[in-house]
Amino acid sequence: MNIQDELQATIEAMVQKGKGILAADESSPTIAKRFKAIDVESTEEHRRSYRSLLLTTPGLGDFISGVILFEETLGQLADDGTPLPELASQQDIVPGIKVDKGKLPLCGAPGDEITLGLDGLEERLEGYKQQGARFAKWRDVYHISVITPSRLAIEANAEVLARYAAVCQGQGIVPIVEPEVLIDGNHSIDRCADVAEAVLHEVFCALHRHHVVLEHMLLKPSMVTPGKTHTHAASPEEIAEQTIRIFRRTVPAAVPSINFLSGGQTPEEATVNLSAMNRLPQQPWELSFSYGRALQEPALQAWRGDEANAALTQAALYHRAKLNGAARFGDYSPAMELASSG
Ligand code: 13P
Repeated sequence: MNIQDELQATIEAMVQKGKGILAADESSPTIAKRFKAIDVESTEEHRRSYRSLLLTTPGLGDFISGVILFEETLGQLADDGTPLPELASQQDIVPGIKVDKGKLPLCGAPGDEITLGLDGLEERLEGYKQQGARFAKWRDVYHISVITPSRLAIEANAEVLARYAAVCQGQGIVPIVEPEVLIDGNHSIDRCADVAEAVLHEVFCALHRHHVVLEHMLLKPSMVTPGKTHTHAASPEEIAEQTIRIFRRTVPAAVPSINFLSGGQTPEEATVNLSAMNRLPQQPWELSFSYGRALQEPALQAWRGDEANAALTQAALYHRAKLNGAARFGDYSPAMELASSG
């Protein structure tokens, strides 16, 4: 298969009606934080057994078409010796890999950060591909404050994101392009909309400059919402309307799917907001999910590091995946939260 056909086949496997992506690519410090909240030590064995459990959830492939893994997970084996990426493939879930190396303060831009990881990326991708990865993810973050994100941060982060995407496509790996405007802060939804518009505009300029094929990438953005500590919460309809308004201005129709991150929304909020967007008149792109916390939180609470809770853990993940599958059609209602997880 040539590279264009390979990229197209991966897009078609990942972009399916009623399905979205499970983000299980927490870095070592992040998964340690998640485990600490349930009193579980973050050992390699605990991470392996928890993630094996997620990937062997019966029927997960009904609602999940791709899973983002962390580098360590790509090389781990299930109890029966099956590589973890293979567990995903067995359920028709495309395995992918987070490839950025985290972030550091951006020099010359107080309060802003820049994402690292371009050095040696091409070689790393070759190895990840041999381990089964067919797509990759790179996350840029933008803090909203009175002085951030600066013009410098918006331009510098767009540039690295586009360079990453171009390298991926050259290797036959579909890039997920993730510019996350953080929810932290007391800003209004209008301020978030202004920042998202500037960020997305710059990201797509950079993608164009680097000859990234828009048909062969996925966008993973945050929704347009008020800051977490803003005085007024927004309704799902307002979030949907503001998000779509900004995305129609900035995201070309050639992008096949927008897979939102949950970014600190509760599982219920992330699902109801996605459903509200899918209730609006049809848009040029699929509107889907690529949730980490919003899919995993109930599963982590059910697991608590105890193998005896395996079935409950998988039922919690399956239930959340199913509700987000309904949100893909705009068919979610809060009453479905109470339905049994079968
Ligand atoms: P959340 O949905 O928890 O924000 O995680 C998605 C993700 O992959 C962040 O990079």
